[in-house]
Amino acid sequence: MKILIATEKPFAKVAVDGIRTEVEKAGYEPVLLEKYKQKEQLLEAVADADALIIRSDKVDGEVLDAAKQLKIVVRAGAGYDNVDLEAATAHGVVVMNTPGQNSNAVAELALGLMVYAIRNFYNGTSGSELKGKTLGIHAYGNVGRNVARIAKGFGMQVIAYDAYCPDEAMMADDVRPVHSCEELYSQADIVSLHIPATPETVQSINYELLSHMPKNGLLVNTARKEVIKEDDLVRFMVDRPDFKYVTDIMPVADAKLRELCAERYFATPKKMGAQTAEANINAGIAAAKQIVDFFQTGNKRFQVNK
Ligand code: 3PG
Repeated sequence: MKILIATEKPFAKVAVDGIRTEVEKAGYEPVLLEKYKQKEQLLEAVADADALIIRSDKVDGEVLDAAKQLKIVVRAGAGYDNVDLEAATAHGVVVMNTPGQNSNAVAELALGLMVYAIRNFYNGTSGSELKGKTLGIHAYGNVGRNVARIAKGFGMQVIAYDAYCPDEAMMADDVRPVHSCEELYSQADIVSLHIPATPETVQSINYELLSHMPKNGLLVNTARKEVIKEDDLVRFMVDRPDFKYVTDIMPVADAKLRELCAERYFATPKKMGAQTAEANINAGIAAAKQIVDFFQTGNKRFQVNK
């Protein structure tokens, strides 16, 4: 049984070692494809794989067509918008994610980006503090919850909006629930995005919504670039010279934003929220264990294409 680990953005070595150990312990063969540049490399590597571990790597119909032996894909992470679920189902391939395994890493980066932005990108001028500011968490899942926990350590007031999360769950964490995006954006000094990219959320962060944010507003995006309507973001940043945007997912409009508002905008060169040894170990080993368990007992607990 061949388990392909295909990561354009590699796991930390210690995580790869851990995945190998899990896979070999079960008597399966781990195969590593890292930092691949061409899709053809993935198509070739996947041809005889029984299972596939990926990160943000794209698994579309073409990859699934090439993967004649494939039974399971595990996205070592939370968001699975990079996998064509319908095509996987049509190919009889089970798709899973590893929810919660990398969420602390993403949350820590979100807070780090907040400090960086509010301290004027460490340019030496007098900035501001997170203490006493209101943080609006847009979607209260695993990452949102970790962001709330850390933000409280900074002395922030935390509010959250999540249409799918009961108020009681937020209140139990001492987070104040609000009941619309407009309410969230108008009451928060800083909004941190933690929504997945779905047909409902893609392009949903638009000019109208952003215009609810108070003066000196800051938007932090460690979710997905697709949820932002980029033309609107550019226009809003031009119209609101007090507003800042920081992200670890480089927008398509990166060059334009750097040209128009370099001093209020920052994007990391690669998506790096989950890029820690700890997150790689947690998510990578969870993925390997889920695959072994699926083959050995048929456990499909984390299947997302049901
Ligand atoms: C996720 O959905 O788990 C995060 O966005 C991390 O993605 P990555 O594995 O590509 O770093």
